[in-house]
Amino acid sequence: METKRFTAKDIKEAAACLRQGQLVSFPTETVYGLGANALSEAAVKQVYEVKGRPSDNPLIVHVSSKEMMQKYVEELPEAADRLIQHFWPGPLTLIVPMKKGTFSSAVTGGLTTVAFRMPNNPLTLELIKEAGVPLVGPSANTSGKPSPTTADHVYHDLQGKIAGILDGGAAEIGVESTVLDLTDSLAGPTILRPGAVTKEALTKVIGAVAIDQHLLSEKEAPKAPGMKYKHYSPDVPVWIVRNEPEEWHNAVEWATSQKKRVGLFAGEDIVSLFGEEQRVECYSFGKNTVEQAARYLFSGLRALDKMDIDVVFAPAFPETGLGEAYMNRLKKAANQKIFKN
Ligand code: TXA
Ligand code: MG
Repeated sequence: METKRFTAKDIKEAAACLRQGQLVSFPTETVYGLGANALSEAAVKQVYEVKGRPSDNPLIVHVSSKEMMQKYVEELPEAADRLIQHFWPGPLTLIVPMKKGTFSSAVTGGLTTVAFRMPNNPLTLELIKEAGVPLVGPSANTSGKPSPTTADHVYHDLQGKIAGILDGGAAEIGVESTVLDLTDSLAGPTILRPGAVTKEALTKVIGAVAIDQHLLSEKEAPKAPGMKYKHYSPDVPVWIVRNEPEEWHNAVEWATSQKKRVGLFAGEDIVSLFGEEQRVECYSFGKNTVEQAARYLFSGLRALDKMDIDVVFAPAFPETGLGEAYMNRLKKAANQKIFKN
């Protein structure tokens, strides 16, 4: 199959592919999604096949409006209304009770709840409207690889396997949406996956918000089924480094003294300290802020993975605000490994 590169002028053609049950990757503000008609069980099953993703892991249903979502919801929780007003379109996924008989278990992983999101990307909102159906959209990577933040990443992973990719440029946020469960009457609203809509921001709108325990302790059984799968792992081992020049020097010295070739995922100020050094390759994410680090994390890991290196170092940021989402992804990529001098 030839994988077409769609741009804004091809949205009608891309929508037609989706209506026919084919797969089309779409851009969002977080990462690229692998789109398929959520109402077609055959199309959804193809998504799992193409990604090599375990089929008990439920998918997010992407909509172009609140009205589109309401057709498939048993009863919209009151908090959902307020959250939608504040954060949609945007990087917030809401889990609500599904109206019986609407989506197949291929979408929900057999649960009675379903996850919805309205992405903040004009091309994709138009694509969904034009398709006239909601779209499932897991990240458009091969399972176990960092999520794609550019059309080229998607092309690299899925070329020949899907009908097309709608190119909307690089994703601005770079980490997947916050997943918030609104169906747990005991725990109340619970974050299952941290993202750019932070706990603090949610609390301002709906009051107390819990964080799924397993995010804090790796031992607990995960509530979001997808959380039990290994994610975002590049082939090269990744170590987390305290983000201070001295500690970067320690890390690089430790690795090079063992004749290891080193890859740095770092801010431009840190990169400027090591740019000239032999055996050190750098990927700069620009200004040394957590926003920039989150935006380029997956891109950087993919780029470094292709270089001839033995180890990657990436910076820690405080685990508050967006730092919670960034560190959640980085710890998975690093398999929890933290460099200590
Ligand atoms: O930013 C994003 O959310 C991206 C873009 C493309 O929109 N999509 C994405 O989808 O990350 P995916 O399928 O890779 O992640 C969906 C997450 C998984 O962790 C899954 O287990 C969880 O949401 N999930 C989906 N439905 C659920 C449900 N009914 N109950 C609990 N967790 C659910
Ligand atoms: Mg994913």
